Amino acid sequence: MTTRALVITSSILAENGRSIALANHFHSRVAGRDDIAVTQRDVVANALPHLDSSELGAWQVAAAERTAEQHVLAARSDELLAELRANDVLVIAVPMYNLGIPSQLKAWFDRVLRAGETFRYTENGPQGLVEGKRAIILAARGGQYAGTEFDSQTPHLKNMLGLMGITDVDVVYAEGLNMGDQQRETAMKEAFQAIDQLVEGL
Ligand SMILES: Cc1cc2nc3c(=O)[nH]c(=O)nc-3n(C[C@H](O)[C@H](O)[C@H](O)COP(=O)(O)O)c2cc1C
Repeated sequence: MTTRALVITSSILAENGRSIALANHFHSRVAGRDDIAVTQRDVVANALPHLDSSELGAWQVAAAERTAEQHVLAARSDELLAELRANDVLVIAVPMYNLGIPSQLKAWFDRVLRAGETFRYTENGPQGLVEGKRAIILAARGGQYAGTEFDSQTPHLKNMLGLMGITDVDVVYAEGLNMGDQQRETAMKEAFQAIDQLVEGL
């Protein structure tokens, strides 16, 4: 059986991005595997606009009753939802920018976190509707925050994934990338090894 992986990259530095290097390492490790099929989405090169009331409104109109403009607006989210559903593993390569995720990646989450599609509200709170998927986060950071109260990024990502029902989440950190050459080399090497192990388990 083929495992389908969706690799999402979100660095503003394109090929110079360290998170891109992590994603590329993942690509290189699965390249020879005929049991893994990879789809790549760069949310910076293909940036989505901020979610606004027109687009939100389009979701709330039944497809048969949408205007031409609403069809176009709803299609943005519909296409990303179809891509998400078509894959088994979500690999999210994420830089830390100003203690959070890139706004381009937030715009992607804003399209797939859609009530009635990927989660629903119940009397007991939200319930995820996306089943049987796992996520791998590849996190590149200038400083060191993992496991501290200053890491508001990982909990945010896990909470957004969890809202959809994706609770099987591994995180690979490459931290301290702006703390000297030695630290950067060590962090990247260790992150590559962690990716190797995760790929072996796929
Ligand atoms: C605009 C900007 C904001 C950043 N903010 C932070 C930050 O808050 N904390 C941190 O540890 N590193 C921060 N950094 C450093 C990045 O996390 C680091 O350069 C990392 O490699 C970014 O991933 P990328 O190379 O894939 O873009 C920032 C970098 C930029 C360009």
